[in-house]
Amino acid sequence: MTPIPEIEEIVGKFRAGEAEVARRFFEEKRPLRQHLDWLRFQVAREARNLEEIASHQRCELVEQVDRSVSRETLVDQLTEDYQEVRHYGMLAYIYEGISGERVQWRELRETAQQASWYELSRREHQRWAELKAGGSELELAAALFTRGGGGALFYGMIPLRGGDYEEALSRASKTILRDEIEHGASEGREDLYRLIRGRDDVETASGIIAEMGAIRLEMRNEQYGQPMPEERLREIREGEIAPVTMEEMLSACPRDGEDWFEWYHGKAKPLSATSIL
Ligand SMILES: [Fe+2]
Ligand SMILES: [Fe+2]
Repeated sequence: MTPIPEIEEIVGKFRAGEAEVARRFFEEKRPLRQHLDWLRFQVAREARNLEEIASHQRCELVEQVDRSVSRETLVDQLTEDYQEVRHYGMLAYIYEGISGERVQWRELRETAQQASWYELSRREHQRWAELKAGGSELELAAALFTRGGGGALFYGMIPLRGGDYEEALSRASKTILRDEIEHGASEGREDLYRLIRGRDDVETASGIIAEMGAIRLEMRNEQYGQPMPEERLREIREGEIAPVTMEEMLSACPRDGEDWFEWYHGKAKPLSATSIL
């Protein structure tokens, strides 16, 4: 599979855009409430696999293995579950570590389904659902290629330093970015590239990727309380940003075998922080 430069470039630019949102947010000290807002949003997203497991979707999948579902499909799904549950666990602890409030995933998911602060995340999922129901196979693959953004947001948080809050985020971000590259971007790329037969397909895919990228960029900016002015969002949509390549992301997140949870539990609570007012 040879990467298609045009497609890689658009994806790389939206990745850079998402990373820039997170970076800008941490450029100044902000009230605790704003930190809890972005974290609550993210924790709600990461808890999706918990909800799927609790609603017995994995039991149903296991029932189908050796019949309509391949063994490797099950392995891939369980790998993603393991990784997403880990993301949920780390970010929920960080939320508790700076707020002293307890997180309950079930309550949070139920609230998020109705809440105005989760509207843009629902919009992204609605668009996927629309394309699944009425789009072509190519359009759906293009939309899913950017699923999770390949962890770009977390790429933007790896350089964070300061107190234990910033360090906890930086360490968690490395793991999350690595996981997202493994179960998100790489698989999505193969699915998409397999369907591309010529110029028209490249254009169709690029259009969908730009559309989903713009939705995600706006979602990230809302998630962080709009650290980027509308003008900057427009520039990014028009391509005025240097792309972040897959190689750059990979080299930022080597697997170091660290036990994040052990590290976290060894830190005093509430977590010290330099970016919270
Ligand atoms: Fe995740
Ligand atoms: Fe993911």
